[in-house]
Amino acid sequence: MTWSLEPGYRRETLPDPESVGEDAGLVAKLRDEIALTGPITFARFMERALYEPGRGYYRQTAPGPGTAAGDFITAPEAHPVYGAAVGRLVDEAWAAMGRPIPFTITEPGAGTGALAEGLLGGLRDMGSALAADVRYRPVEVEPARLEALAERLRVDELADALVADDAPDDEVETGAVIANEVLDALPVHRVIGRPAGLRELLVTTSPDGGFVWHEAEPSTPALAARLDAEGVTLADGQSTEVCLGIDSWLTGATRHLARGIVVLVDYAAEPAALHGAAKPGGTLRAFARHAVGGDPFRHVGRQDLTATVDLAAVRAAAANAGLTLIGETTQAELLAAASAPANGKPGLTDPWLRGRDASLASTLHLRSALARLMDPRGMGGFRVLVFGRGLPADVRLPLLDRVRRPTA
Ligand SMILES: C[S@@+](CC[C@H](N)C(=O)[O-])C[C@H]1O[C@@H](n2cnc3c(N)ncnc32)[C@H](O)[C@@H]1O
Repeated sequence: MTWSLEPGYRRETLPDPESVGEDAGLVAKLRDEIALTGPITFARFMERALYEPGRGYYRQTAPGPGTAAGDFITAPEAHPVYGAAVGRLVDEAWAAMGRPIPFTITEPGAGTGALAEGLLGGLRDMGSALAADVRYRPVEVEPARLEALAERLRVDELADALVADDAPDDEVETGAVIANEVLDALPVHRVIGRPAGLRELLVTTSPDGGFVWHEAEPSTPALAARLDAEGVTLADGQSTEVCLGIDSWLTGATRHLARGIVVLVDYAAEPAALHGAAKPGGTLRAFARHAVGGDPFRHVGRQDLTATVDLAAVRAAAANAGLTLIGETTQAELLAAASAPANGKPGLTDPWLRGRDASLASTLHLRSALARLMDPRGMGGFRVLVFGRGLPADVRLPLLDRVRRPTA
């Protein structure tokens, strides 16, 4: 889920990454756990650093994740045109399904509501009949953030669509599940290649009070099994990350969905690129105040930790969760396809170029945001994976066909 601001962008206003400090209480808890159990996996360290109730990075109520005032900016935060493009994809799926009502969009990792705002506003602006009846369920690890999200939607008169995340687990629905830049935050294990076989990089404490890596036997055979299944052999000394939590996350995130689509967007790569020689140290990154840091042991609880998503692992998890791949594209291609005129709908960018509130400022903001959102070396290269559940095998979404044929 993460993208830093491009060099020079409002640089003079960016806060000093050093000023974020660390959560001393969380550091103490991690040290206590290691004292009690011995070295812990990096996945466990990451889980507590990001998700520890009251202390983890994603448990803060203040703006942080994914905002210009926080630590990085996400695509939906960059401009609502991105959410509007995702809205067109949802509208196509809804039409392909015969326009069912009720239709519920669930958004795990809804953050500040930027995607919800762009998507719901986009449905309204394009005159979609779904706009009036759609139900929107934002899901967050920190429920306290959902009130700010609702307030944001109220300002745009979009809050009527909101439904609470309180449906019983066995309730089934027709709709969509959309997760934008969430998978990259799932805890990862760190492994390293050695001549005698795979080893794991655990986390332990150093005498000076910090955290350090500790090489050991893998904590679970699932790590080697994953790399074997992907045909990956690490060279001696080469390290990488493995996310074992994707299956259970995807099963949980889609538990209400009986019929509909699942859209997953993230920075992601095929195993050969992700675990290949070009990435000898893996892709684990830390983000604090728009600065990319390499040290995951600093700013504990106050910086984001993330790793590039393994596309093969996502596809396998989706298949295990009973999802069928409908198509794949990139963020740039989705935006390009959604911008093309189709079926008499107004252009995707019309609200900012020709709408009631259009101005020179809105035009310039749109243009500079599109340049960033579509930059193939940056956000434009983010992968968009669309799966279906309970849909006919031959279901097609024209937006996915328009630029690139779906992967078989
Ligand atoms: C990088 S932000 C992206 C926010 C939003 N989707 C966007 O694109 O602007 C990641 C968000 O996912 C949430 N998150 C992280 N792990 C999650 C999980 N396991 N389930 C639900 N939300 C999660 C975080 O709290 C955070 O708000």
